Amino acid sequence: MTDQTPKRLFIKTYGCQMNVYDSQRMAEALEADGYVQTDRAEDADMVLLNTCHIREKAAEKLYSDLGRLKPLKGARPDLRIGVAGCVAQAEGAEIIRRMPLVDLVVGPQAYHRLPAMARGDGPAVDTDFPAEDKFDHLPQRAATRRAPAAFLTVQEGCDKFCAFCVVPYTRGAEVSRPAARILSEARDLVARGVREITLLGQNVNGWHGAGATGFGDLIRQIAAVPGLDRIRYTTSHPNDMADDLIEAHRDVPQLMPYLHLPVQSGSDRILKAMNRRHTRDDYLRLIDRIRAARPDIMLTSDFIAGFPGETDADHADTLRLIAEVGFGTAFSFKYSPRPGTPAADRPTVNDSVADARLHEMQALLSRQQKAAQDAMVGRRLGVLFEKPGRMPGQMVGKSDYLHSVFVHAPDAQPGDLVTVRIKASAPNSLEGELA
Ligand code: SAH
Ligand code: SF4
Ligand code: F3S
Repeated sequence: MTDQTPKRLFIKTYGCQMNVYDSQRMAEALEADGYVQTDRAEDADMVLLNTCHIREKAAEKLYSDLGRLKPLKGARPDLRIGVAGCVAQAEGAEIIRRMPLVDLVVGPQAYHRLPAMARGDGPAVDTDFPAEDKFDHLPQRAATRRAPAAFLTVQEGCDKFCAFCVVPYTRGAEVSRPAARILSEARDLVARGVREITLLGQNVNGWHGAGATGFGDLIRQIAAVPGLDRIRYTTSHPNDMADDLIEAHRDVPQLMPYLHLPVQSGSDRILKAMNRRHTRDDYLRLIDRIRAARPDIMLTSDFIAGFPGETDADHADTLRLIAEVGFGTAFSFKYSPRPGTPAADRPTVNDSVADARLHEMQALLSRQQKAAQDAMVGRRLGVLFEKPGRMPGQMVGKSDYLHSVFVHAPDAQPGDLVTVRIKASAPNSLEGELA
């Protein structure tokens, strides 16, 4: 079935890490069908846009990119253009109606059918949620070297239905992959040069698959894979931080002292309106328990400014929560009404008020981010080298706390995990020397 002449594939990825992982798996599936990747759309036989629907701006990027592809498709009508990911799921055939240059639309749970669609053996639009595990049907290229840090999706979808969020609709119901499959993929990644794995899921700590008692137990099993030095996971819901997982942060040396735990708001009224199903106090008490188990853990979060109904007092509660916890870094977004979500029809906060709140939040969060990064100076940290830096003999890698660290290390290789003494803090990175 494999064609002899290589076809060139260009993939552009928007959105979260789960899309990054999916793009990699789709590329591998298409490679088995004779495609090789290119980083220029102009050279491609097939362009695949792996999209995000989370906020309006993210979704609209698809249409501006498709607009830019028009001249290319005009000049080469045999160029195949595919739309994958969460906009594909949310809008389906509507994408082709609005942009007829699109040849195929494939939702996030139907990727394993992409090679057939690309050959013209399938429908042009596939947004099913098939019962089979898509990951089992995506071939992996044997023995290709991989970068030292990799993603591994362990859980798909979300059953939480926060009032603002499209994910439960675009990714479908929560499904956990069995531990045995995750372990064999982890072993395969390690054999291909991977030293650090970030376990992914929209609700990754709610993992409840076969073969482990819970997510904490899964982490302990993965930590036993020989050659795997570091484990991370993202993104987590506060209500799924089980005792066993908190204990894993205390007991498992491979589990990095870093936790992304989105809270969205510090106001009980707004948390309720968001359907987050926990209070501000629940979150603060949870942070206390996590810090008791792992005192040096770095916490990060997501916040939404200007959720419908948010008052100045609610916003002040959020600022107080941020001040009280002290985050290593955080993402904050202005609320964006999304079609089909429960909050979409609620009266919105005045736009300039929402902007001002967002700026105030971001100013506080970036002060915290700088303080957390500056506090690394003088410490000895593990750094996993990922690639050479700009200067001769320099390497760059990530610390335990996910900061980028530049180190003069002429004899080092990507994949080396070294101890580094941090010497200086720059705006977006640290500088260190081999200890
Ligand atoms: N599953 C993750 C979040 C995934 S989306 C969790 O529960 O934490 C990533 C972030 O985007 C969310 O945490 C939220 O802060 C933001 N977000 C989601 N929908 C949004 C919307 N409609 N408007 C603005 N921000 C949104
Ligand atoms: Fe969206 Fe909430 Fe699910 Fe996160 S937990 S993906 S914010 S619905
Ligand atoms: Fe975006 Fe879909 Fe991820 S909406 S954030 S790409 S799950």
